[in-house]
Amino acid sequence: MTKRIVVLVSGNGGNLQAILDAVGDGRLAARVVGVVSNRPAVRALQRATTAGVPTVVVEPQPAETRVQYDERLCEVVGAWRPDIVVLAGFMRVLSPEFLDAFPQAVLNIHPALPGELPGTQAIERAHAQAQEGSRTHSGVMVHLVPDAGVDSGPVLASVQVAMQKSETLADFAARMHEAEHHLLVRALVEFIDRPLVEKTHQPLRFA
Ligand code: GAR
Repeated sequence: MTKRIVVLVSGNGGNLQAILDAVGDGRLAARVVGVVSNRPAVRALQRATTAGVPTVVVEPQPAETRVQYDERLCEVVGAWRPDIVVLAGFMRVLSPEFLDAFPQAVLNIHPALPGELPGTQAIERAHAQAQEGSRTHSGVMVHLVPDAGVDSGPVLASVQVAMQKSETLADFAARMHEAEHHLLVRALVEFIDRPLVEKTHQPLRFA
């Protein structure tokens, strides 16, 4: 059966667009059934609307705890009955209260290699390190999100991106985003094609 994907976003939505394009031209046998943003009026929401995908904005409320927010988020996402939840530039850490509702089904894309540069502005930090001479390459990874760790979890796919000291941040960022868009689609195709045999234990094994 066609897999149902819900995408969580916070901003531009370039990775969301890569998924929408891959679904649109048949590379990805799935359907994006909903998009949620924690920020209103972001470009990602326009991209979803243009593709005919329903959107919901779940904005954090003043004095709301993380768990309270995640419970509201969980209700919105759960209503779409997703097989896969993709964090595509969703800039919040999710609590176990959310993650336990979608076991082995939440994927994150991060613009760094496994174990490197967790958190925000990974591209900018990698670029600064290359300028200082302490980094020759970076990369991109897609991983499962089993717990509230930041940009960590069993890696589904990763790719190295070589760096040159002379490259501008804008050029490097553009190459990184291109790498992300390819890797995310590839990881999703593989994730859908090869269901996990062991749902609960690491290391992951594939059928
Ligand atoms: C992407 O580079 C994504 O990998 C990154 O945010 C950007 C969102 O861009 N995510 C993280 O840094 C997660 N820690 P997009 O809105 O154009 O997809």
